[in-house]
Amino acid sequence: MKFSLVASVVTAFSAGANAYAISAEDAYLEGLTALGHLRRALPNSPNGYTPTSRDCPSNAPSVRAAAELSSQETAWLERRRNNTVEPMRDLLTRLNITGFDAGSYIDRVSNNASELPNIGIAVSGGGWRALMNGAGAIKAFDSRTDNNTGRGQLGGLLQSATYLAGLSGGGWLVGSIFINNYTTVGALQSHDAGSTWQFENSVLEGPDKGGLQILDTAQYYGSLSDAVTGKRDAGFDVSLTDVWGRALSFQLINATDGGPAYTWSSISLAQDFQDANTPFPILVADARAPGETLIPGNTTVYEFNAFEMGTWDPTAYGFIPMQYLGTNFTAGSVPNNDQCVVGFDNAGFIMGTSSSLFNQFLLNLNGTDIPQSLRDIVSSILNTLSSDNNDIADYTPNPFFHYNPQSNPSANSSRLTLVDGGEDLQNIPLHPLIQPNRHVDVIFAVDSSADTEYIWPNATALVATYQRSLADVANGTTFPSIPDQNTIVNLGLNTHPTFFGCDTSNMTDGINVPLVVYIPNSPYVTYSNFSTFQLSTNNSYRDAVILNGQNVVTMGNGTVDETWPACAGCAILSRSLERTRTDIPEVCNQCFERFCWNGTVDSRDPPRYEPTVLLGEINIANSAATRSINWLAAGVAAAGFVITTI
Ligand SMILES: *[C@@H]1O[C@H](CO)[C@@H](O)[C@H](O)[C@H]1NC(C)=O
Ligand SMILES: *[C@@H]1O[C@H](CO)[C@@H](O)[C@H](O)[C@H]1NC(C)=O
Ligand SMILES: *[C@@H]1O[C@H](CO)[C@@H](O)[C@H](O)[C@H]1NC(C)=O
Ligand SMILES: *[C@@H]1O[C@H](CO)[C@@H](O)[C@H](O)[C@H]1NC(C)=O
Ligand SMILES: *[C@@H]1O[C@H](CO)[C@@H](O)[C@H](O)[C@H]1NC(C)=O
Ligand SMILES: *[C@@H]1O[C@H](CO)[C@@H](O)[C@H](O)[C@H]1NC(C)=O
Ligand SMILES: *[C@@H]1O[C@H](CO)[C@@H](O)[C@H](O)[C@H]1NC(C)=O
Ligand SMILES: *[C@@H]1O[C@H](CO)[C@@H](O)[C@H](O)[C@H]1NC(C)=O
Ligand SMILES: *[C@@H]1O[C@H](CO)[C@@H](O)[C@H](O)[C@H]1NC(C)=O
Ligand SMILES: *[C@@H]1O[C@H](CO)[C@@H](O)[C@H](O)[C@H]1NC(C)=O
Ligand SMILES: *[C@@H]1O[C@H](CO)[C@@H](O)[C@H](O)[C@H]1NC(C)=O
Ligand SMILES: *[C@@H]1O[C@H](CO)[C@@H](O)[C@H](O)[C@H]1NC(C)=O
Repeated sequence: MKFSLVASVVTAFSAGANAYAISAEDAYLEGLTALGHLRRALPNSPNGYTPTSRDCPSNAPSVRAAAELSSQETAWLERRRNNTVEPMRDLLTRLNITGFDAGSYIDRVSNNASELPNIGIAVSGGGWRALMNGAGAIKAFDSRTDNNTGRGQLGGLLQSATYLAGLSGGGWLVGSIFINNYTTVGALQSHDAGSTWQFENSVLEGPDKGGLQILDTAQYYGSLSDAVTGKRDAGFDVSLTDVWGRALSFQLINATDGGPAYTWSSISLAQDFQDANTPFPILVADARAPGETLIPGNTTVYEFNAFEMGTWDPTAYGFIPMQYLGTNFTAGSVPNNDQCVVGFDNAGFIMGTSSSLFNQFLLNLNGTDIPQSLRDIVSSILNTLSSDNNDIADYTPNPFFHYNPQSNPSANSSRLTLVDGGEDLQNIPLHPLIQPNRHVDVIFAVDSSADTEYIWPNATALVATYQRSLADVANGTTFPSIPDQNTIVNLGLNTHPTFFGCDTSNMTDGINVPLVVYIPNSPYVTYSNFSTFQLSTNNSYRDAVILNGQNVVTMGNGTVDETWPACAGCAILSRSLERTRTDIPEVCNQCFERFCWNGTVDSRDPPRYEPTVLLGEINIANSAATRSINWLAAGVAAAGFVITTI
């Protein structure tokens, strides 16, 4: 891929724009544009939460095979890869890789994307803990954060990254940033910028009245219920995920009533995204056949990106345009005279799908003082589902109905049921980043999973992805070998960043296997291991966990290990240096000695993992306000769905 192909990029983009302009809802969008609002993800569902049927454009949408990247992603990447050059040059120069002139190197490879480092970031699931620890990581990687480009800091890594994938709680983070005009974590925390991340009241209570929110709790429940009833009355199947996604939106989307009209596909219309000033956002969810209770490791993984929804797996192996989710597709096309649906891809519904495990909370509303309207809707949803299906998100009509019937397990079902992306134990969204078509070189994998007894990660998610990469379903994806979790804990590989896949000569696919920079949640300035089922935190603890996350990924801005910042730079450069047959700087060799897993295995049962804070512990004001709703956790356990690792 050469950057000299600007003309074709521009053409591809305007062709895309023309295709868009044909459809009715885009006339609506153009209306908004004319009002000068085409600057952020949009409330562009014509009828709020309710999906709307419209005549299809003359070039009706269809399912495409997953053999290559979409033409939109390919065109967008040409801009993005170019836009990462300057930030990468700045970052790598600043990281002080002794004896290596990072600036000249980046200049030398800058006009050839296949030589330039290609960076992905993946943020795991784990509820609000994962949102906050992941937010700390993104804040530390973001050059827009105050005082973030000094010695030992990693500000600019986000600007250097091509992809940003999120799952479940990590998906809330990615969605909240992108739906809110590619805002910063600092702004999402800030009272002055609208107080979006208000986690003092749980989603079960709803937001405080004031600011953007005008509802009291009863009205809040009424609003959830009305939205979901509206969708159902329009003829769409609803699931608990609809209620859940609507509730989440009040905490994640900076708009009145949680912005019921914001769509996921509208991310692709935001100015910053179109200018490729952002990484490419992707959420993931797992397929779960109705009635199936254990999700096998080879279940189909679906992704929701800015342009499309679908899967690379050799099952359904297809993608549809995101904005037409909810449209009837049969054998890959819209049947004659059928209409197209828009507004089904509600942003909260997509974030709710990736985190559907948390639907279980709604089961416990029974015991609370909620109005009859919400009680009724929850009951009526539950009545149409068997009790082990409470966690599904219902995608009816199934976009892949009769598509690839020989390999697609859902081909004969008019319904596609998706669940939380971590239910297959791959709690870090690596799947989209290990697709050979995407050629990612290095993945910063931020893990906030609750694997160990005390809710710290032990790389179970990496093990799951590694095992899957060896199975039939792998379909060209490759992943470095990962040792068992006992080894991870015994060698302390979950106490600091660890590289996997350093030695390309030890892997069949060599340099095409991405280097994985595993960054486990650990305590630097606070104990950031709060329960997945804790639904509320005060702002003081929220901010401490976010700050802790900043320190996790920077190792305290290099104060805990002064070699780390340069070593992060070496990880970024590693595959690129090999590809261009450039000598590895001595300092990088030392880094690989220090941070790479070298193949040692120690599978004995480890002692209990109980880390203590590394730097001065922050004093959390009013920690009593950090309420843990334990009866909820108990209720979830009773419902039989607790997946400890999420
Ligand atoms: C690449 O990005 C630079 C800014 O970083 C811009 O000036 C230049 O026009 C871009 N080139 C292409 C081919 O898009
Ligand atoms: C979105 O962010 C851009 C800066 O990235 C800003 O120029 C624009 O005004 C913002 N739009 C809205 C609607 O906030
Ligand atoms: C760069 O690294 C060298 C050691 O490799 C160290 O002596 C020097 O202080 C570092 N400079 C900065 C600005 O971090
Ligand atoms: C940034 O650094 C400056 C100068 O050291 C300091 O005055 C300011 O308070 C810092 N800002 C933040 C947000 O830490
Ligand atoms: C929330 O919206 C308000 C009003 O549009 C804006 O001023 C503020 O910056 C936004 N906050 C975030 C985090 O996007
Ligand atoms: C989708 O197809 C089903 C079955 O043919 C039909 O009942 C439904 O109305 C269709 N929906 C739309 C939006 O065309
Ligand atoms: C809610 O309570 C009703 C009546 O007590 C009961 O029939 C129903 O099963 C309960 N629902 C759940 C999800 O516990
Ligand atoms: C690692 O985590 C898994 C859950 O994800 C747990 O079953 C296992 O016991 C843990 N092992 C260690 C050594 O922490
Ligand atoms: C998943 O694994 C099961 C059991 O090994 C096997 O029967 C099935 O065919 C596999 N599915 C795919 C899509 O590879
Ligand atoms: C992936 O699966 C598809 C569909 O089964 C197949 O056509 C393709 O060749 C596979 N790709 C690789 C790299 O195995
Ligand atoms: C690292 O830098 C960030 C951003 O300036 C700051 O908030 C944090 O306190 C620093 N950490 C340490 C240990 O100095
Ligand atoms: C190298 O490959 C062998 C198997 O061929 C494997 O056992 C070992 O763990 C690998 N080492 C690393 C560091 O990946």
